[in-house]
Amino acid sequence: MLSYDINQTLTRVGHGTPAGELLRRYWQPVAAEAELTPETPKLRVRALCEDLVLFRDGQGRFGLVEEQCCHRSASLFYGFVEDDGIRCPYHGWKFDAAGACLDQPFEPKVSPLKEHVRQHAYPVQALGGMIWAYLGPAPAPLLPRWEQLLRADGERRIFILPVIECNWLQIMENSCDPCHTYYLHAHTLTLKGKDRAGAYHYRPIEKLNFELVEEPNWIGVRKQRVYGGDQAEEEDGHPVIFPNFLLSPQREHIVMHMRLPVDDTHTKIFRYQFTPNNDGQDEPQPNIVPCEQVLPLKNEDGVYHMNSFASHDAMAWETQGPITDRGRENLGTTDAGIALYRRLLREQIQRVQNGEDPKGLIRDAALNDVIRIEVSTGQRRMAREIAKA
Ligand code: FES
Ligand SMILES: [Fe+2]
Repeated sequence: MLSYDINQTLTRVGHGTPAGELLRRYWQPVAAEAELTPETPKLRVRALCEDLVLFRDGQGRFGLVEEQCCHRSASLFYGFVEDDGIRCPYHGWKFDAAGACLDQPFEPKVSPLKEHVRQHAYPVQALGGMIWAYLGPAPAPLLPRWEQLLRADGERRIFILPVIECNWLQIMENSCDPCHTYYLHAHTLTLKGKDRAGAYHYRPIEKLNFELVEEPNWIGVRKQRVYGGDQAEEEDGHPVIFPNFLLSPQREHIVMHMRLPVDDTHTKIFRYQFTPNNDGQDEPQPNIVPCEQVLPLKNEDGVYHMNSFASHDAMAWETQGPITDRGRENLGTTDAGIALYRRLLREQIQRVQNGEDPKGLIRDAALNDVIRIEVSTGQRRMAREIAKA
């Protein structure tokens, strides 16, 4: 159970809020590269309560600027993307990817105004088909090079979920809660006659283990299930990567669930899927990782259809409330992972408030060649067995 004040501290993401300042210390996934095309080289992005415009100029450089123009606040989303920047649709001021003002068409040529104004902009980088942004204070840490973004022995796809209408922390707490898979996913699907889809998770859970992980280049909470019954198995486990990722086996895939806190009550989720091939050999990769939108998680009448894991999870997350009231919860032993995550979160908030780096940032390139994290392989094995049967 958390007090109202602590709940606010852990959940709010705007500028100057404790969790918002913490989250700004980590590179955030703001878009899939495939969302920007030569025909539509700009995208509205809302991240951590900030309204921004992402664009790719004619030379292929990405820029992420505040949506409201620094002249008189019209939206740059309606701007014209040019070879070297984005031009405001109102009076034509032009800004480059770093926010420098390149042109003010109706100001005197000798005016110093151009040198004095700047459109607020954040650093962006493309890696693995994702666009990443850093909204925190300089100097930015290194952008983590997760193995799934880099390896070539398989196929990558990005799925973007419909925006989830709740606070980011509910989604992360769900990822620290490994027993929810039995009823929410497996039992639901089995009752709908889709027992194959839930088979892995429809086994008696005998034990749950949780471990705080502190590596030189990431921190998180590792969860492990011990299954009993006639298909007993002890998982190797898989981790929540602090602060807002989950790395999880999912049938034959390895999926990095990237959760961008849009604002206090909305979260954008990128399901970044890597499917290893069978021979482990590198294969040619497309220039841009394919990306698709996940179909709605609710029926037309606004009721969750409950036909997919994503619909189940969204039901659980959103029905907890826009920012769930943790003053009314009663945690049990299965919630030990949530307690660990909350402790991690509070400690890292404290570090930022003390003027220190939170844990898990990388500032040494030697630690960032490639970040490998092992996950359970049982789901892949079972997916193959079911496919053969
Ligand atoms: S408001 Fe953007 S140029 Fe005037
Ligand atoms: Fe789930």
